[in-house]
Amino acid sequence: MKILAIYGSPRRRGNTWLLLEKAFEGAREAGADVEEIVLRDLKMAPCLEIYGCKKTGRCVIQDDFQQVYDKLLACQGLMLASPIFFYAVTAQTKILMDRCQSLWAKKYWIEKVPFGQGEIKRKGLFISVGATHGKKLFDGALSSVHYFFDVLDMEVWRTLLYRGLDHEGEILQHPEYLQEAYQAGRELALSSTGR
Ligand SMILES: Cc1cc2nc3c(=O)[nH]c(=O)nc-3n(C[C@H](O)[C@H](O)[C@H](O)COP(=O)(O)O)c2cc1C
Repeated sequence: MKILAIYGSPRRRGNTWLLLEKAFEGAREAGADVEEIVLRDLKMAPCLEIYGCKKTGRCVIQDDFQQVYDKLLACQGLMLASPIFFYAVTAQTKILMDRCQSLWAKKYWIEKVPFGQGEIKRKGLFISVGATHGKKLFDGALSSVHYFFDVLDMEVWRTLLYRGLDHEGEILQHPEYLQEAYQAGRELALSSTGR
């Protein structure tokens, strides 16, 4: 079973990276074939809103998004990690989400799936951290993730959201968070195969 792990922070080994790494370690040890995508290493233009995807459901901008698109469609489960930047996901993550408007067009315009009635076929895990402690810290990102997963026919199966983490590697002071990430990865892999 194939699980895609998408890393959306611009920091090479950010707090979200360390969590994602644990999650895919858990998934791998549970037997999943986990592929990582580091968004900052890809050449991906923002959506141009030209709707070249309107007829086929495939984005017409030829860049690294094309391979991500195929992998998003092929995976059985998804892990997405992004820290909070200005109460939202990072720019790298948002560019990916916006390019998936092609999948929105495929689902709702081409296949004419009635809103809110699409079949949920896969599970998605969202991992995030932020520096502050505000109650609404993750609200914006969670809203985007909910609708992003929807175009992928995925449910927001689980979220791992941690406050009060700012400096690189600070998450290492919280082995319990890393353990939760490992466990979530493991459970995602096991439940994505129906075991
Ligand atoms: C451009 C930018 C915007 C940020 N905005 C927020 C914010 O709105 N709220 C918050 O709590 N932390 C914010 N932060 C802090 C990051 O969420 C925090 O440093 C986090 O640990 C980074 O995760 P990473 O190490 O995985 O990249 C921001 C950081 C940057 C660089």
